[in-house]
Amino acid sequence: MCEPTGLAIGHNGGVRVGIAGKGGVGKTTISSVLARTLARRSYRVIALDCDSDPHLAMSSGIEQDRIDAMRPFVERRGRGDSFTTDAVTPEEILARHGLEGPDGVVYMQAARITKPGGG
Ligand SMILES: Nc1ncnc2c1ncn2[C@@H]1O[C@H](COP(=O)(O)OP(=O)(O)OP(=O)(O)O)[C@@H](O)[C@H]1O
Ligand SMILES: [Mg+2]
Repeated sequence: MCEPTGLAIGHNGGVRVGIAGKGGVGKTTISSVLARTLARRSYRVIALDCDSDPHLAMSSGIEQDRIDAMRPFVERRGRGDSFTTDAVTPEEILARHGLEGPDGVVYMQAARITKPGGG
């Protein structure tokens, strides 16, 4: 069974929870339920999907066209190299990469494979 594999108190008092584990054990499902449950209890939640094939936003009920328009932190532009975000401040990161979903959870993606096998 998957379980929180990292728990840290941030400098501003925020709590960071990392969920990882073997394939198909329910990481995405639990992450989605946890994020939305905490948001419903008035916590501010930012949910970062670090899977290269991210499904957290979809599992949380966001429409596919809105998910497709998300900008991951790492992007490949054309056939060139990958670029990481040039957003600097937390506000810029949220504005460029965040997508607000049900219950007010803000979703972000670390990276996303758009053409599997495309090199
Ligand atoms: N508690 C549960 N009981 C029954 N089925 C569940 C439960 N949690 C998740 N599932 C189902 O198990 C499958 C895998 O769940 P999920 O996608 O959340 O796992 P995952 O660990 O994120 O997988 P992956 O490693 O592929 O990202 C899904 O079909 C999901 O609906
Ligand atoms: Mg998953």
